[in-house]
Amino acid sequence: MENFAQLYSKERLHSFITKYQDLIQVDPHKEIHCGIIHLDELHIAAQLLHQGELVAFPTETVYGLGANAKNAQAILNIFKAKKRPLSDPLIVHVHDKNNIYTDKPDFLDSFAELFWPGPFTIVLKSTQLETTEILSAGTGSIGIRIPNHKVALELLEKANLPVAAPSANLFTHISPTSAAHVFNDFYDQRVHIIDAGRSDNGIESTVIKPLGNELHILRLGSLAKETIMKKIGQSDQLKHFAIKYENKYMQIEESEEDIEKELVELNVLERKSSMEAPGQFLKHYSARINSFIVSFQQNSIGQQIDLDLKESVIIDFGSELRNRIANLDETKYKSLSENYDAKEAMFNLYDSLRWAELQQGAKQILLYDFDTQINHKVQNDENVLSIQDKIYRSASGQKIYYKNNKFYLCQ
Ligand code: TXA
Ligand code: MG
Repeated sequence: MENFAQLYSKERLHSFITKYQDLIQVDPHKEIHCGIIHLDELHIAAQLLHQGELVAFPTETVYGLGANAKNAQAILNIFKAKKRPLSDPLIVHVHDKNNIYTDKPDFLDSFAELFWPGPFTIVLKSTQLETTEILSAGTGSIGIRIPNHKVALELLEKANLPVAAPSANLFTHISPTSAAHVFNDFYDQRVHIIDAGRSDNGIESTVIKPLGNELHILRLGSLAKETIMKKIGQSDQLKHFAIKYENKYMQIEESEEDIEKELVELNVLERKSSMEAPGQFLKHYSARINSFIVSFQQNSIGQQIDLDLKESVIIDFGSELRNRIANLDETKYKSLSENYDAKEAMFNLYDSLRWAELQQGAKQILLYDFDTQINHKVQNDENVLSIQDKIYRSASGQKIYYKNNKFYLCQ
């Protein structure tokens, strides 16, 4: 086994932390164990994957926490590192549509032509990988994706392996769009982080599953539903598919202790049965502090809550919240897009949530309500639905109503 000591050198760590000093937060009582990989060292990253190590790499959506998808122990280490329940399946990343490690239905090439490389994950039956049981969380079907990112593709090509990778964040935390975000979640673990720039799209891939003549969207991401509909509608091979999308907000049934116990015991074969639409938990993409969506709709107002604007961080869209909420002079503030550009808002969403939780004294995040308050300027933008979904989950569905300097819980 090769030992790449330079990845862990004090100098390298120091220059990484200095480079991202505004974004990094570490507990001084914890030791740093992760390694930093530079862009001219992707051959090392590929070797590490072969050695069964965890490598965090950039994609156009978010950073992934990668491991060799043929190595069961390496895959288990992903679950352990993330504290993620084994019932939540992993996406496998490849660089060649002719080698996707799953069964290959006739229509696959047409999908590949339209959406790959890109933020499109397709869930297909797999009989080709011995690790299918754990990758697929017992469902027998694996999500496959070819990412549209130079570094990711080069890594996949150099490694010439299928690479299993969930988003590189701790379970339920905000997905990472920068190497610094990955560092904050995993610095005390043996994870190797490729230091590349910010992810282009800012939110995850869209996950679909073909079932007969239906195409089920299991998770909305940076490929919009309308784009999929439009493109498959124009394809003779795919136009028979009907798109099905249903927002599912499931509560996490297992407690953090349960998950940890399960992972410590790590008995893959005896784990709890898998979910039908895994990963659609309500609490997802969440900041470490309480988050609320600010509604101006009066339909279901509950009790008034004390909420100090000085201890709040506002994440706005355009300047909607700034224009409506009084006394924001001492409130930390960011707009996802000053110009009502939904794509820009998508790009900035996770980054802003990560920024918000680092603000000193911040007790809560107040988020613009894309659901009921959507400005006429973006009403028809196809990306709004995805942003709305992520915001709803990051606030765990909690809404508050604002009127005359007072906040009320919505029921
Ligand atoms: O953009 C992305 O998709 C990123 C980058 C790294 O590729 N990956 C990512 O993975 O977001 P993850 O594990 O954080 O979210 C993938 C979700 C799962 O939670 C699950 O809902 C769904 O995709 N999924 C994956 N494999 C599945 C399968 N076999 N069956 C059903 N759903 C699956
Ligand atoms: Mg994730």
